[in-house]
Amino acid sequence: MNIDDLRRLARARLPRVVFDYLDGGAEDETTLRANRQALDDLRLTPRLLGGGHVDLSTEIFGQRYAAPFLIGPTGLNGIYWPDGDLHIAAAAAEAGIGFTLSTASNTSMETIAERVAAPRWFQLYPWGKPDFSQALIERAEVAGYSALILTLDSLVGGKRERDLRHGFSHEIRMSAQVVLDGLLHPRWLASVWLGGKRPRFENLERFLGKGASNAELADFTRSQRNPQFSWDDVRRIRKQWSGPLLIKGIICPEDARLARQAGADGIVVSNHGGRQLDGAPATVSVLERIADQLEDGATLLLDGGIRRGSDVVKAMALGAHGVLLGRAPLYGLAAGGREGVDRALAILADEMERTMILIGCERPRELGRQHLAGVERALSGKALG
Ligand SMILES: Cc1cc2nc3c(=O)[nH]c(=O)nc-3n(C[C@H](O)[C@H](O)[C@H](O)COP(=O)(O)O)c2cc1C
Repeated sequence: MNIDDLRRLARARLPRVVFDYLDGGAEDETTLRANRQALDDLRLTPRLLGGGHVDLSTEIFGQRYAAPFLIGPTGLNGIYWPDGDLHIAAAAAEAGIGFTLSTASNTSMETIAERVAAPRWFQLYPWGKPDFSQALIERAEVAGYSALILTLDSLVGGKRERDLRHGFSHEIRMSAQVVLDGLLHPRWLASVWLGGKRPRFENLERFLGKGASNAELADFTRSQRNPQFSWDDVRRIRKQWSGPLLIKGIICPEDARLARQAGADGIVVSNHGGRQLDGAPATVSVLERIADQLEDGATLLLDGGIRRGSDVVKAMALGAHGVLLGRAPLYGLAAGGREGVDRALAILADEMERTMILIGCERPRELGRQHLAGVERALSGKALG
């Protein structure tokens, strides 16, 4: 079984409107496809022997994880499986890998902290007025989140045409088509829709009150977009958050520099999984240039299209210190709840270990351009021989 198999199972279980929200990208989905294509185009150099004692464990911000892939932030996880965020957090904890909770999660950050005792990060959207982010930052600190990811590539929503066609925007609105879609997917309908635990944006309830309807919470998330957000605001957030701060959504080396100037400890090279600016380049295609100009000491993560253990190896060979997973664990969750997430994480760890043995590399931090066939010459412009 592989991640694509989990995707197929997810597709069979979910109504189309939900699967398309998970799977889709912006506009013509060229960036969504490019993320995968660029990873596929990278070749690894097989090396004989020398990879007999592989240890995938990796340290990020002083914390040792079992593998260099972490759960990235994704909103609305409860739409695939009741308590989706909790299942993912618990699976990550058991696998010994990192977990990030989204601002737009369906389980509150406090509940996750109470129920899952493991290191975890919080992702903040730059929504609303400064008191909105300040309140979330203070709560994240009290609840023991150890790092903050500030996502800056979504000041307006991407034009996700699959969602627009379904009339989907942060919530499922009933229509004849959606009802029929639900009836055709009875396992999902019974567990998520009729099971009594419809997904709510629990982190945001405190802003609107517990009595807020799902529609009011969804309206709230849409109304809080703040296109005027600036690097000065990043500096403000830097002062409010004492732990490690990462800026997510960086594709351009100049923005990586600005993020560091604003006080970020690290960056996530990301195009939001092709869900924001369609036409943005594949993340691995810009990684090397960003890695080259980032000073030592800055943490460099990447996401976008990671579906194989070998994808993690390729990203790290180009300079990433680790990767975030977006859709991969979500396909597992949608296919089979907690068991599906466990499966997704086990698949990636197994594939990564095999890949490391086959390229003769025992530690992720030893990965480098020498492990990529042809890339050294092609990307650095060095002539052959
Ligand atoms: C369904 C879905 C919801 C997402 N929600 C968020 C979010 O709430 N915050 C955020 O920073 N990124 C969000 N992202 C982007 C992911 O964190 C990540 O950048 C992207 O999914 C990586 O690409 P991949 O899915 O191809 O691995 C979301 C992505 C998906 C697929």
